[in-house]
Amino acid sequence: MKAPCSIVAEVLKIVVGRVSVGVTTIELNSIAEKEVAKRKAKPAFKGYCGYPASLCCSLNSQVVHGIPDNRPLEDGDILSLDFGAYYDGFYGDAAVTVPIGNVSEVAIKLISATEKSLLVAIEKSATHNRLSDISNAVQTYIESKGFSVVRDFVGHGIGRSLHESPQVPNYGLPNTGPKLRSGMVLAIEPMVNEKSHEVKILADGWTAVTLDGGLSAHFEHTVAITENGPEILTLI
Ligand code: MF3
Ligand code: CO
Repeated sequence: MKAPCSIVAEVLKIVVGRVSVGVTTIELNSIAEKEVAKRKAKPAFKGYCGYPASLCCSLNSQVVHGIPDNRPLEDGDILSLDFGAYYDGFYGDAAVTVPIGNVSEVAIKLISATEKSLLVAIEKSATHNRLSDISNAVQTYIESKGFSVVRDFVGHGIGRSLHESPQVPNYGLPNTGPKLRSGMVLAIEPMVNEKSHEVKILADGWTAVTLDGGLSAHFEHTVAITENGPEILTLI
């Protein structure tokens, strides 16, 4: 699984490098498509349950599954970019949230808390733990920062399919669910809201937004559980 996951990391790094004021998310989607094709891989999301693009672009109060469009990015926006690739029989999946220009203090705090919550979750991805120890680590960390964890979308097992069992919620009590074992690979993906955790889906059938209009951030890595601890496969 290192191959598709490295491709995901490389493509996301290139796309993030192209984010700036005035760029559209349709342009970012095209860059992702060109870069994944160069690497002889396929975009994992395009056509998945009818999703129309390769790169999920979720702006400001959009939580996940935003569809690329022609609105130029503006100073003060935050943008979540989620990308998956399929290569040689296996999938990789990762996401980041990036600030555009000068963003508000709360936006910076939200982004850094969400990224940190993914790292604390990854630390729990070890063979002496159970699945919900990952979930609980995210929730405990995020709520200590005064933000809220989205319930309606979860992380997932990943491998020969994009979404495999188990589901990996970002909330829950510790020490329940299956024991983590060497060889499992999980896509861990905290989605964190500035205000209430509640979300709704827009009329396009895909874009999830915060119900109260607050900001939202999303980070994701594909993580292998090994005898030597967690290995992040989507790191550059
Ligand atoms: N990382 C997201 C997930 O695992 C990406 C969804 S892809 C889409 O659910 F095709 F459903 F948009
Ligand atoms: Co995912």
